[in-house]
Amino acid sequence: MDRNDAFREAMGRFAGAVNIITTEEDGLPSGLIATAVCSLSFDPPSVLVCINKSASSHDTILRRGIFAVNLLSPALSNVARRFQSQKGSDRFEKKYWVAGKTGAPLLVGAPMALDCKLSHTYDGFSHSIL
Ligand SMILES: Cc1cc2nc3c(=O)[nH]c(=O)nc-3n(C[C@H](O)[C@H](O)[C@H](O)COP(=O)(O)O)c2cc1C
Repeated sequence: MDRNDAFREAMGRFAGAVNIITTEEDGLPSGLIATAVCSLSFDPPSVLVCINKSASSHDTILRRGIFAVNLLSPALSNVARRFQSQKGSDRFEKKYWVAGKTGAPLLVGAPMALDCKLSHTYDGFSHSIL
């Protein structure tokens, strides 16, 4: 196992909440599953999210400057499965999603959903830190 595979394997054991990060452009939703999410500050209320630069929704999030963080629960595992088996807007089954104030899709029934405006982007090697 090379160093990158070993690191991936180690991080796979790192317990973390599973979220769906969403965005929207020209009426089309997009998004990805992400565990690299954490609370950043209370004032202003802000979170930090790390998105792979190669993810299909990465450039859309940066361009549009909006995204939502939708926390998954075991009851929503079918939503997660759809994100893994489908691409682009096909990941979104209409009945599960409503548009937030920013336009980013919010997951109906999620234990927590944050409708976010992008304030800063930092380089994080393979990822962007938002
Ligand atoms: C449990 C889990 C956690 C993940 N966490 C992240 C993450 O924090 N950031 C990220 O960029 N990709 C993460 N990924 C990978 C993306 O969800 C996956 O690469 C996605 O398919 C890439 O987007 P695309 O298929 O739209 O290109 C995670 C995947 C899984 C299954």
